[in-house]
Amino acid sequence: MTINHPNFGKMDENRVVIFDTTLRDGEQSPGFSMNLNEKIRMAEALAALGVDVLEAGFPIASPGDFESVQRIAETVKGPVITGLSRSAPNDIIRAGEAIRAAERKRIHTFISTSPLHMKYKLKMEPEVVLEHVTKSVTLARQYTDDVEWSAEDGTRTDMEFLLRCVEAAIKAGATTINIPDTVGYAVPEDMERIFSTVLEKVPGADQVILSTHCHNDLGLAVANALASLRGGARQIECTINGIGERAGNASLEEVVMAIRTRQDNNPYINGIETTRLLRTSKLLSTITGFDVQPNKAIVGRNAFAHESGIHQDGMLKNAATYEIMTPESVGWQKTSLVMGKHSGRAAFRDKLNALGYGDIGDNALNDAFTRFKILADRKKVVYDEDIVALVDDEVVRS
Ligand code: KIV
Ligand code: ZN
Repeated sequence: MTINHPNFGKMDENRVVIFDTTLRDGEQSPGFSMNLNEKIRMAEALAALGVDVLEAGFPIASPGDFESVQRIAETVKGPVITGLSRSAPNDIIRAGEAIRAAERKRIHTFISTSPLHMKYKLKMEPEVVLEHVTKSVTLARQYTDDVEWSAEDGTRTDMEFLLRCVEAAIKAGATTINIPDTVGYAVPEDMERIFSTVLEKVPGADQVILSTHCHNDLGLAVANALASLRGGARQIECTINGIGERAGNASLEEVVMAIRTRQDNNPYINGIETTRLLRTSKLLSTITGFDVQPNKAIVGRNAFAHESGIHQDGMLKNAATYEIMTPESVGWQKTSLVMGKHSGRAAFRDKLNALGYGDIGDNALNDAFTRFKILADRKKVVYDEDIVALVDDEVVRS
C-alpha cells in the first residue's frame, strides 16, 4: 500500500525519511548545548545535507529552545521543521506556536508506554496513558496535519499495550508512528519483530510512516535502525556524529552510508547529499568543541587512512582492496597513506614521488627506507617534512 503523507505526498515504498535530531536529542547530551546562532548555522548545514525532517528543539524546555525552534522555522527552507512536546496541552501549544512559520511543519509528541516508565515516572495507569495518546495527537492536529507520535521506551513496552497505543494514535490522526529504543536495550532481531508486528496487527499502520529512534547504549543503534527497516520502518531518527543522550543516537552518516554501500541488503533510497557528510560533521565538532574519535566510521580522521605496508601496497594497486566506499563520496579529498613503522617500500616510493623526488636510484631509496624505518620506530607518525629531511640528507651523502 502506498503512503500518501501530508508533507511528502505519495511515497515510494523504499523511500526512507531521514529525520535529524542533532539539535534536540543530540543537544541533550552533556556539554553539547548550542546557542541560537550555532543552532541556525547547524540547521542550515542540515538542510543543505538534505535531511527530510529537522527536529529543531523542545520548545517548552526553555525560552531559548522556543526561540531557536521559532527562528529555524522562519528561516530554514527545505526540511520539515518539527519541535518535540510531551503529551500535556501546554507543551503541544508551545510546540505549535514555535513551528508556525515553517513552510512544512510537524509536531512530535510523545508519552512513555513501558510498565516501568508508566509506574515510576508518569505514575499513570495504562488506560490513562491511552487517553493521553488520543488527546495529545488530537490537539497537535489542530496546528498541523503532520503529527508524529512516539511511544517512549517503546521497545520495553508490553506488545499488546503498544499495539493499542499505536492504534489510538493513528485513529486520532498521527501520520508518523515512532517506536524508540529509548535506553538502547534492543538487539536487531527485536527491532525487526516489533515493526513487523505493528505493521501486521494495527489497522492503518500501512498508511502511516513507521519510524525508528535507536540509542547506542550497547553500540547497536545503527544495526538496530537498519533492522527496523527490514521490519517495515521507513523513517530513521539519527544525529550527526551520533551525538545524543548517554551513548548517543544512531549516527546519520553511518546509517546513510550503510544503506548506500550495501544496496544488495538495504535497497532503500534517501535524499542525503553524501559528499556533504564530512563538512557537516566537522561543523558540529567546531560548534560543540568535541571532535569525533579518530577511528569513527565515515568521518573519523583514520576512516580512510592506511598505515600497514600490506594495505598500502594493496591500495596502490587497486583502492577497492581496502576501501568499501570512496573517500570523495563522503567529502574527503582523498585516501591517505600514513607513513609509520608499518609502512612498506611501495608506499615509501609512492610518497617520494608525491613529494617530487622522482627516481632517486635503488641504492639511495634502500638507504633512505632503512633510515625511515629507524625513525618510524621512534615516532608515532612520520610527517612529510621528516621524509624530506631524511631523503635530502641521503641524496647529499650519496
Ligand atoms: O529516546 C527517546 O525515546 C526520545 C523520544 C522523546 C522520541 O528521544
Ligand atoms: Zn532519544
